[in-house]
Amino acid sequence: MGSRRATFTSDFGLLMTMIGVAVGLGNVWRFPYMVWEFGGSTFVACYLLCVLTIGIPALAAEWALGRHTRRGPLGAFQRGGLPAGRAMGRLIYFVVWVAVGYYAVAVGWVGFYAAGAAGRIVGLPFDAGVILPPDTGFDGRSFGLQLLMTALVVGGGGVIIALGLKRGIERASKLIMPTLFVVLIALVGRSLTLDGAGTGLAFCLGLGGGDRLDASCLAAAMGQAIFSLSLGGSFMLIYGSYMAPRTGIGKKAVITGLSDALAGVLAALAIIPAAVALLPEVGSDGAQAVKGAKLLFATLPAVFAHMPGGGAFGLLFFGGLFGAAFLSAIAALEVLVGGLVDNTSLSRKRAVALTCGSVWLISIPPSINMTIFIPWDLTFGSGMQVCGALLAVVTAVWCVNRSAMLAELSRGAQRPFPRLLYWWMRVAIPAMIATTGLLWFLEDVEPYLRQTVWPWLTGLLLG
Ligand code: ALA
Repeated sequence: MGSRRATFTSDFGLLMTMIGVAVGLGNVWRFPYMVWEFGGSTFVACYLLCVLTIGIPALAAEWALGRHTRRGPLGAFQRGGLPAGRAMGRLIYFVVWVAVGYYAVAVGWVGFYAAGAAGRIVGLPFDAGVILPPDTGFDGRSFGLQLLMTALVVGGGGVIIALGLKRGIERASKLIMPTLFVVLIALVGRSLTLDGAGTGLAFCLGLGGGDRLDASCLAAAMGQAIFSLSLGGSFMLIYGSYMAPRTGIGKKAVITGLSDALAGVLAALAIIPAAVALLPEVGSDGAQAVKGAKLLFATLPAVFAHMPGGGAFGLLFFGGLFGAAFLSAIAALEVLVGGLVDNTSLSRKRAVALTCGSVWLISIPPSINMTIFIPWDLTFGSGMQVCGALLAVVTAVWCVNRSAMLAELSRGAQRPFPRLLYWWMRVAIPAMIATTGLLWFLEDVEPYLRQTVWPWLTGLLLG
């Protein structure tokens, strides 16, 4: 075990870093969109239930596995005793590399929108929408802007990572996360005091009549809990490996899980009532107005354009979201850099340079058009995160020696880790995560394959 491995310097720094890893595009973009799609409070209730029963215990398991093995994915599964753990770790490492390629592209879009909002305030209006890739084909201007913004995101992340855990990652998180929560609260205040905000608020509370509870609502809530908490045997695993030996895990997992959920709920309250109050078309055709990239990059800018003080609020929104998503991207880069430092003789600085260069290269295909970007997200984002989360929990509670894992989970706490919860982690959580993965495949991937790959393949085979 690496006795000189960096550890977090304070509980506050640790919590801000972990919450920073969790809060990102998933909370501010995906969560409000899902609240909308599933009709309000039923989805929120399902999601909160999943956070409490699956997300938080699975997060504790990932941290414990990381700290126990003192490794990120490259090493933790093997040291934890998972059969074929070395290969699984390599697979997850590869997936993180490909996934950060598209995530950094999306963070670049948000950064460009923040720059657009700032430009408008000082009288330099520019259309930030030109950065978005076309649905199909190729657009040279969008492509060039994306490559530039991705280079800034990846390069900026690289500088912070090169400064190390304490001077780079912890310090950036301590600055960005409290600011983001203040920004979200200010946005909620603005949104709820607009004339006509009551209709959107009623919708969020499930009084809008669209509430539905079915298997896809449950699967979406579970998937969102996993995605939003950054579970996946990657980010949280490596950050767990930087936890000091005496740091308690349980309470911090609860605080991280609840803060992450709070960020999503605040984002929904900031977005939905304002959108309903200011854009009549949202009230009549909400599902279309918030679908996919449209919510962030078309509907919200229109909301800010109609809002009193909208210029400043738009800047706060896109600036805050950029900060949160940037911290999630940093966690992904840290998985890659930490893996190189742990397993090769490369210095941290060289590992950062190699990682940032290769991530920038892999970001090129999803920058071309949405037809490439969306399946990239489905495969390497949502889907693989569920698989990685499953592997991490199984390794932690089935492969690592039981008393060693219980001791790990109990360290720094006043009472031993409850046995019942350990059994819940062993049986119920893997079953629920596996079900989520299956439902995700049936709901999202299979229809996509049927509509796109299958006709293409049959056309090819049958001429
Ligand atoms: N948890 C990160 C997010 O929500 C990946 O964007």
